[in-house]
Amino acid sequence: MDIKRVLVADAVDAACVDLLENNGVQVDCKYKQTKEELIKNIKDYDALIVRSDTKVTEDVIKAGKNLKVIGRAGAGVDNIDINAATANKIIVLNTPGGNAISACELTCSLITSMARNVIPAAASLKAGRWDRKLYAGHELYGKTLGIVGLGRIGKEVALRMQSWGMKTIGFDPIVSAEEARSFNVESMELEKIWPLADYITVHTPLIPQTRNMINDKVFTACKKGVRIVNVARGGIIHEKDLLAALKDGRCGGAALDVFEQEPPKDPITLEIIQHPNVIATPHLGASTSEAQIRVAVEVSEQILALIGKNKQYTETPGIINRSVLGK
Ligand SMILES: NC(=O)c1ccc[n+]([C@@H]2O[C@H](COP(=O)([O-])OP(=O)(O)OC[C@H]3O[C@@H](n4cnc5c(N)ncnc54)[C@H](O)[C@@H]3O)[C@@H](O)[C@H]2O)c1
Repeated sequence: MDIKRVLVADAVDAACVDLLENNGVQVDCKYKQTKEELIKNIKDYDALIVRSDTKVTEDVIKAGKNLKVIGRAGAGVDNIDINAATANKIIVLNTPGGNAISACELTCSLITSMARNVIPAAASLKAGRWDRKLYAGHELYGKTLGIVGLGRIGKEVALRMQSWGMKTIGFDPIVSAEEARSFNVESMELEKIWPLADYITVHTPLIPQTRNMINDKVFTACKKGVRIVNVARGGIIHEKDLLAALKDGRCGGAALDVFEQEPPKDPITLEIIQHPNVIATPHLGASTSEAQIRVAVEVSEQILALIGKNKQYTETPGIINRSVLGK
């Protein structure tokens, strides 16, 4: 594939640019462009690399007269109009797995922090109080963790939380019961998970089937006081229903890294963030130096594989719309 000029539109680790330039590709980094600027600039480039900030909408794609590839340094591609890209024969690829360990480790630290009230207790001590009784917690040992989505991150979370003595149960439409058992997760339908789980963590993409998956009905079906974690995508948990469940005690706590709108402005989301039983982080799942280098290198390696000149790079595991290649 003939890729000579690449536009990097979001701040991706320098390893991305270095690898492409070392292979003779011209790279321009233009961050925080307005939509109009991006539409004006995109026509000069054969490939576009983004993280989650740049919205690659249909009009951007149509303006990309020379565009052949859109690379997402990261996992979620909900900021890219994949249908429009496919219709215009533009490959969309991501870096599956590059940030899985980082997202998994954040999930596990949120679960353990929730169990022992680490965040509010530390804030209280910093504010000069000594509230030992207020912040008594509970053990995770012997508790049940329900994992919705047993892909890369869900599986890693299961393996780590098992070492805390948690029983792990889960559901994934494409992971068989046998495969789940191989990493000690008992597979069961969602309706069976709800009343059994002390903690529920979601690790699915945001797709029509998962949007608002955790809603009022689910909170009512859950164990009273269930704790819920979302380091996947905003919109999987129905925020209005979560707030209601936090208020009436059906949900005993939530740890959220992602929100329906980011940065959050909706009054309901802001009230959730302020709730005393909520830990909220600003989409930090992939924010580690290791993950950022890994996804930067992986996106460049795949573009080099598509160019096909350096025999060291041949794999394109992240292509999402393979039909564009006629495969
Ligand atoms: N917070 C962050 O910064 C951050 C970082 C990395 C990944 N993520 C997000 O985490 C999520 C999981 O990432 P991953 O790398 O594990 O993806 P993955 O593709 O490896 O796994 C996702 C799994 O969800 C399953 N799934 C799909 N629909 C389902 C449903 N209705 N019920 C149950 N399971 C369902 C799929 O079959 C798949 O196995 C994605 O949404 C990704 O965007 C967030």
